[in-house]
Amino acid sequence: MYSDKVMEHFKNPRNVGEIDNPDGVGEVGNPVCGDIMKIFLKIENNIIVDAKFKTFGCGAAIASSSMATELVKGKTLEEAWEVSNRAVAEALEGLPPIKMHCSVLAEEGIHKAINDYRNKQGLSPWEEKHPHSHDHSKDLECQD
Ligand code: FES
Repeated sequence: MYSDKVMEHFKNPRNVGEIDNPDGVGEVGNPVCGDIMKIFLKIENNIIVDAKFKTFGCGAAIASSSMATELVKGKTLEEAWEVSNRAVAEALEGLPPIKMHCSVLAEEGIHKAINDYRNKQGLSPWEEKHPHSHDHSKDLECQD
């Protein structure tokens, strides 16, 4: 069901843990499956110099958090904002359709952490360009 890349990031996730004194934190959850993801960012001169995560969730959510934190490290906030859940899934060599929502958690977590940072800087939050449906009724089948 999963690509080798997903299995590899699930078994050996990168960037697990917390950052002391993070510049931005984003916590998101999927109310249907109950999975929770927390993203921590360290930001210097508009660049994400470190990213970590804590995820209580399924294997796809853990692999997505691992890949998403890898993808945003070293990027400017503008570039990191553009990292979509599809980009995370593609970097993982695909996710089964019923597991795509797990990668949405990663995108939302990064966005929330960036906006937490912007909020602390007194800046207005960035708007979601492609808001994801929060109708999770279709997710019922993907609990595991
Ligand atoms: Fe809930 Fe994957 S995030 S099943």
